Amino acid sequence: MQTTVERGQWGSRLGFVLAAVGSAVGLGNMWRFPYLTAEAGGAAFVFLYIVMVVLVGLPILLAEFSVGRGSKRSPIQALEHFGGASWRPLGYLFVIAGFVILSYYGVIAGWVIRYTVDYLFAGGIAEAGSTFTAYHTSAWAVVLHLLFISVAVVIVMGGVQAGIERASLILMPILFIIVAVLAIYAAFLEGAAGGYSFYLAVDFSELLSFEVFSMAAGQAFFSLSLGMGAMLTYSSYLRKDENLPRESITIAGTDFLVAFVAGLMIFPLIFALGLVGDVGESTVGALFITLPEAFAALGGAGQIVGFLFFSALLVGALTSAISLLEVVTSSAIDSLNWPRKKAAVLAGGAAALLGVPSAINIDILTLFDEIAGQVLLVLGALLISIFVGWLMPGAEEEVSRGASPGPWVQGWRFLLRYVAPVLLAIVLVYQLISSYQEIVGLF
Ligand code: PHE
Repeated sequence: MQTTVERGQWGSRLGFVLAAVGSAVGLGNMWRFPYLTAEAGGAAFVFLYIVMVVLVGLPILLAEFSVGRGSKRSPIQALEHFGGASWRPLGYLFVIAGFVILSYYGVIAGWVIRYTVDYLFAGGIAEAGSTFTAYHTSAWAVVLHLLFISVAVVIVMGGVQAGIERASLILMPILFIIVAVLAIYAAFLEGAAGGYSFYLAVDFSELLSFEVFSMAAGQAFFSLSLGMGAMLTYSSYLRKDENLPRESITIAGTDFLVAFVAGLMIFPLIFALGLVGDVGESTVGALFITLPEAFAALGGAGQIVGFLFFSALLVGALTSAISLLEVVTSSAIDSLNWPRKKAAVLAGGAAALLGVPSAINIDILTLFDEIAGQVLLVLGALLISIFVGWLMPGAEEEVSRGASPGPWVQGWRFLLRYVAPVLLAIVLVYQLISSYQEIVGLF
């Protein structure tokens, strides 16, 4: 089967880095990270999170990069290339996870479109609670989900350079600017200091639990888009002389920075308006209800703030969705020999259809997220760390190509072999338990 014929390639280092950052920065940064931090130890959690990025995130990011760049293939073929036919199923797991996540990611992004448009044209959202209920139960949820996936399909159809890279080069700077502007604006709100201390109040006692530990690890690799082949696929379009450890640090650092600054913008807003009591709900719903309530309380400025916030969220969701779709598309190109346009349309169309039940029923969305977004990603990350750590031939040479030699290579191998699998196994157990409880609770 053909694999490397007419494969796309990034046009520039910046293009690759921004595309990878685009995959990483999404709902996880804009909402989940600040929320977890405020709930679980403030600055102490930030510290723990950074430790987890170093112990689990960076090693697995580098592992995916070595498999992708080393094979120049999409996940299924890449794993077969290095591990033989018995590792193909991990490639399938990646593709399935990407496909399912994309299906409901599109639904959430559809709500974001609706909110963005309302802030722009309808003067904002006054009654966020009832508005959200009205949206996610109406036909709009389906229509806007389909619209969002269509945009992602058009970009992926354009190919690696003219589609994904170009979109990332335009969209990511916009997102950075909006988040920075809003964080600066929030700093001048009355009560900003209270928001910061709510967000970052140091509480080391929170950290002494397996639960918080696995939350931090889980967040680290969800946020870095690990465990489903997105980073693997993007790195398969790299040239051989790219410095992988340097790019990994840039990508993980930027991803962290956006998440951290998102908290600096969200908490002063919520705190200044006395809505802290409403934060205790971790579902996406809180993002669509609590924050709009804060924006509404800002008066006229709230319309602009709301528009900017949801635009940034939309950009983050779009660049993440593009990476999810690219995993499925590139696999269809390599496995079925389809031309890119056909692969993108059919993969996106299928994910769009699969998302319709989630658009109609939010419980199905939660179910899909529990299975794919939580359990499958952890499983995928666990298996790839074992594969690259223990089995992949020439992993150390591949990861060092283009980088300066040093003891970091042994450090990487050690983390990948011993530390990441143990931590991920713990996370997997917690994730299975909490997903089970969550799923039982749905029925
Ligand atoms: N990293 C994205 C976020 O933080 C989520 C994601 C996971 C995107 C896996 C692609 C693949 O929201």
